[in-house]
Amino acid sequence: MNKAKYTEDVPEDRNELFEVVYKLERPAKIMVIGGTDSGKTTLVTFLANKLISRGFKVALLDSDIGQKSILPPATISLTLTSSPFQSPSELKALKNYFVGSITPSSHFGEVVTGVRRLAELGEELADFVIIDTTGYVENAGRDLKRLKAELVKPELIVFLQKESELEELIKSFRRFSRTMSLRVSEKALGYSRSRRRSIRKEKWKAYFQNAQSYTVDLSKYLISGTEMFHGEDITPEEKTLLEKLYGLLIFAGWKNRRYTIVGAGSSPQETDIHYIDFERLSNLLVGFIDQEGFCLGIGILKLINFREKKAEILTPLRQEELRNIVEIRFGRIRVREDGEELGLLSREAL
Ligand SMILES: Nc1ncnc2c1ncn2[C@@H]1O[C@H](COP(=O)(O)OP(=O)(O)OP(=O)(O)O)[C@@H](O)[C@H]1O
Ligand SMILES: [Mg+2]
Repeated sequence: MNKAKYTEDVPEDRNELFEVVYKLERPAKIMVIGGTDSGKTTLVTFLANKLISRGFKVALLDSDIGQKSILPPATISLTLTSSPFQSPSELKALKNYFVGSITPSSHFGEVVTGVRRLAELGEELADFVIIDTTGYVENAGRDLKRLKAELVKPELIVFLQKESELEELIKSFRRFSRTMSLRVSEKALGYSRSRRRSIRKEKWKAYFQNAQSYTVDLSKYLISGTEMFHGEDITPEEKTLLEKLYGLLIFAGWKNRRYTIVGAGSSPQETDIHYIDFERLSNLLVGFIDQEGFCLGIGILKLINFREKKAEILTPLRQEELRNIVEIRFGRIRVREDGEELGLLSREAL
């Protein structure tokens, strides 16, 4: 199910890396950067196991939301381990930060905040914090990597490159950290988009396999990641007026600085109204957030009863875990419990 696993069959420069890492002042943060399928997770697994075999405590920070090893998907996760492992997918998350998508493009803020917060925690608990990242190293991906590095200030950033394609990026990082460049292993395999998607499918499915459905009283929680449930409810008169004006069936609406309405029908054009198509709310990913802002688990929104302010949400979290939730955060991916991804929503959609 996971692409990367532990192997000793690595290029010689991995041992040189280990010698450098081993001598770093502890606690030390090491960030791994490279393109898609460049062997980042394989390297992270190698390095972590080597350090563990020398008796160190290692924290792995999985921020590769496109191809996560550690569950749950669409979050950034921190795990702590001092025993050898074959694949990071065996490890259980200690803390997660909710991103709500499988691509960082509209979620730079969530990604860098999550990485920073979890790296800080990792430093308190482990000798080494190893940070795995997405393979997004082109265009805006370069900015994302820089933002992460600026905030986390890793003691060492390791780059994986085939030739010299990351040289420019490496130069710009020398300001923040010590850098080291390694060769992509000749054994590294490329995975097609559809294989990547099917690996993600397995992950979603595994996470939701023992999920159960809860009726959640939304009035008891902070609701974030959406303009819904913010502001005053629209009056019955406003509802009728808006329905007539735009030819919609409206289920709910709020007046903040503008109207946010949830309805059925085609999206009103040339208006200031923030329109949310009711259908796009089904199978939407939500995060269950605790007092500290960390994500205790994720859920799939099945239905909202706006009149009663209640939602049907499917999640593997147990009743007692749900007691520690203070906030429900809306994500931007629709997915079914069998792992089928139904599409991404824009940041503005909710
Ligand atoms: N040294 C190696 N020996 C054998 N196989 C390797 C080695 N390095 C990488 N691979 C293989 O190449 C593939 C890609 O490696 P890996 O998953 O570690 O890359 P990644 O950069 O983490 O990818 P992603 O961008 O999806 O996160 C995997 O199937 C992995 O097993
Ligand atoms: Mg990876």
